[in-house]
Amino acid sequence: MNSLQPIKNILVCPACRGELHFEQQDITCLNCEQVYPIHENIPQFAVYASDEAALNDVAGISKNNYEHRYEDFEKARNYNLKYDRKLLKRLSTRREYQLLQRLLGQQKHCATMLEIPCGGGRISPQLVNATDSLIQADVGLGQILYGMAREKLKIPQIWMTASAFRIPLQDNSVDAAVCIRLSHHLPTSQQRKDLLAELLRVARRYVVMTFFDYHSIKNSLRRLRHSKPKLTMTLSQVASIAAMHGAKLAACPRLSIIGSGHRYALMVKTSSS
Ligand SMILES: C[S@@+](CC[C@H](N)C(=O)[O-])C[C@H]1O[C@@H](n2cnc3c(N)ncnc32)[C@H](O)[C@@H]1O
Ligand SMILES: [Zn+2]
Repeated sequence: MNSLQPIKNILVCPACRGELHFEQQDITCLNCEQVYPIHENIPQFAVYASDEAALNDVAGISKNNYEHRYEDFEKARNYNLKYDRKLLKRLSTRREYQLLQRLLGQQKHCATMLEIPCGGGRISPQLVNATDSLIQADVGLGQILYGMAREKLKIPQIWMTASAFRIPLQDNSVDAAVCIRLSHHLPTSQQRKDLLAELLRVARRYVVMTFFDYHSIKNSLRRLRHSKPKLTMTLSQVASIAAMHGAKLAACPRLSIIGSGHRYALMVKTSSS
């Protein structure tokens, strides 16, 4: 059972941040009148960046892009099984768990945490000790359905589809936001910056976000070989976006020195207590 009751007071329209009216089958914005259906108990708040880009005629973001990939349950299932079965991916996941425990262990316990994108729940069990309840959101309905079919966590879970660019939550309304392995899929530098800004908008105390480090050995080798560039950010970019939103880049460990260019950035709001 997915009940929105505990977070009704912090939910807003993802399109205009207006107040919402809740019915059994759907949710309507009282301001812009957009209707968000509820499918199998899952509210559908996803607003696609590609649709907005098409409306605004932004080049380079097509309708078939990454955010549409996991609408389908089977595709989500195959993606998640690959992570369970491949040895290198399992080792990477283990290291990611260690990093998360270290970073979250430094922070005060949360009442509410947002995980976006939650995918099929690969990371979610690692968040349980850090929070009383977990909002699990992903743009792909297939991922949410896959995650919901997995073993339940020991804390209340609230699922929804949502875009990380338009999170249907008020400013500073959750204690923390966790965003693992999305930034390096985003095609433009502006999108990578917008993602971080949106996470920092909704999180009252801290954000954990992974990004692919421009200065990593992996990316430097790629640049030397003139291979297709990775979709990267620099530490100073991340630190300066954090600073613009009243947060400090408190830690930024690498997933691996040679094998991967990913980093786990922990950004803590300086005004948070
Ligand atoms: C590589 S998976 C990572 C999932 C999970 N965080 C993990 O580490 O296992 C990336 C996820 O991002 C989702 N996604 C893509 N674009 C998104 C967007 N704009 N907002 C929210 N989720 C998005 C995809 O559906 C996919 O589930
Ligand atoms: Zn609205």
